[in-house]
Amino acid sequence: MQFTIEVGRYNPEGTYAPSASAPQEFPVPWDKAPPRRYQTYTVDLPEHAVVLDALIEIREYQDESLAVRCACRSAICGSCAMWINGHAHLACKSKLQAFTKDGKTRVESPPSMPVIRDLVWGMEPFWKKHHAVTPWLEPKQPVPGPREEYRVANAAMDNLVQEVSCINCGCCLMDCESFAINDNFLGPHALAKAYRYAADPRDATEKQRLGSYSGNGGIWDCTHCYECVQQCPKGVAPLEQILKLRKMAVDAGFTNNAGTRHADAFAESVRESGRLNELTLMPKSTGFFNIVGQLQTLPSAINMLRAGKLPPIVHHKIPGVQRIKTIFQRIGGRFKK
Ligand code: SF4
Ligand code: SF4
Ligand code: FES
Repeated sequence: MQFTIEVGRYNPEGTYAPSASAPQEFPVPWDKAPPRRYQTYTVDLPEHAVVLDALIEIREYQDESLAVRCACRSAICGSCAMWINGHAHLACKSKLQAFTKDGKTRVESPPSMPVIRDLVWGMEPFWKKHHAVTPWLEPKQPVPGPREEYRVANAAMDNLVQEVSCINCGCCLMDCESFAINDNFLGPHALAKAYRYAADPRDATEKQRLGSYSGNGGIWDCTHCYECVQQCPKGVAPLEQILKLRKMAVDAGFTNNAGTRHADAFAESVRESGRLNELTLMPKSTGFFNIVGQLQTLPSAINMLRAGKLPPIVHHKIPGVQRIKTIFQRIGGRFKK
C-alpha cells in the first residue's frame, strides 16, 4: 500500500534538498519556533504500518539525512514522540492509515519545544519541569534493615497506578495550551508526577509539596484545555491528577492564592445568583487589597472595554435561584452555606 509522508525538516546548518518547500512558519502561539521546510516522500508499506515504519523506511532507503529518534518501537520508551498532523503522538503507535488525511500524513518536531534537527527535539524543558517537582520519595519510615523493605498497603498503591504508567514521552507537555503561552508553568507530566509522590503514604513531605505546587506556575495555572488527557498514550490523564492535587492543597489550607480565590468567586457567584458575575470575578481572584495585582489586570479590562465585551454592570439573579442554592447545600463541602 502506498503512503505519502510530508516531513517538516530543520537543519541547523541551513542546507536543504532542492525538493524541500520554502520555509513555513508556525501560527501563534508557536510563531517563534524556527520555520520548517517540508519534504514529501512516498513509501510502500503494509496497511498495518505505523508512522515510525514509514520514517525508518525513508531514512534507510530514500534519504539518509533524515534525523528521527526512536528506540523500543513498542510505545514504551517514549522517544518517538512528535507532531503528527498538528498534534502530539508516538510515531510507533500511530497507524498510517488512520492518520492519512487528504492523501498524506504530515510529521514534524513540535514547535513548542526546541528543535535539534528534523524530527529530533530537545527535552531540556521537559526534564527541567520534571526535576522541579522533586520526583522522588522523602521517606518517613526509619530506613529498613538490609533484608527488609519499605512497606506500603496494596490499596494505597492502587490509587497511584495511573500516574506510574507515565513513560516520559512529552506528548502532554508539547500540546499543553498553558505551557504554549507560559513556559513557567510546571506542566501536565510534572504535575501528574507531583501527585504520584504527594499522595504516596510513604512520603514525609506532602505539606511542603502542596505548598510549592500552589504558587505561580503550579496547579492553578492549568486552563483545563484537556489536550494532555487526549494526547497521553498511556492513559495518565494529567489533568485529573492536577484536580486531585488542587483538592489536596485546599484541604491542607493552601487557599491564599489567585487560583483558589478564582474557584471560590466562581462558585459563590453561581450559588448566589445562578450565573457567573464576570465583573467581579477578576478583582476577587486577584484579591481586593492586592493593589499591584489589580493594576496589572487593567490592560485586560481596557481591552475588553474596547472590544465591547465588558460584562453588564448590574448583575441580576436568575428566577428560582433558590434551587441552585439547594444543589450547593446537597453537595455540601466547601461551598455549602
Ligand atoms: S488540561 Fe491543563 S495541564 Fe492539561 S494540557 Fe490543558 S492546560 Fe495543560
Ligand atoms: S503523562 Fe502521558 S503524555 Fe505526559 S509524559 Fe507521561 S506518558 Fe507522556
Ligand atoms: S520508539 Fe519507543 S515509544 Fe516509540
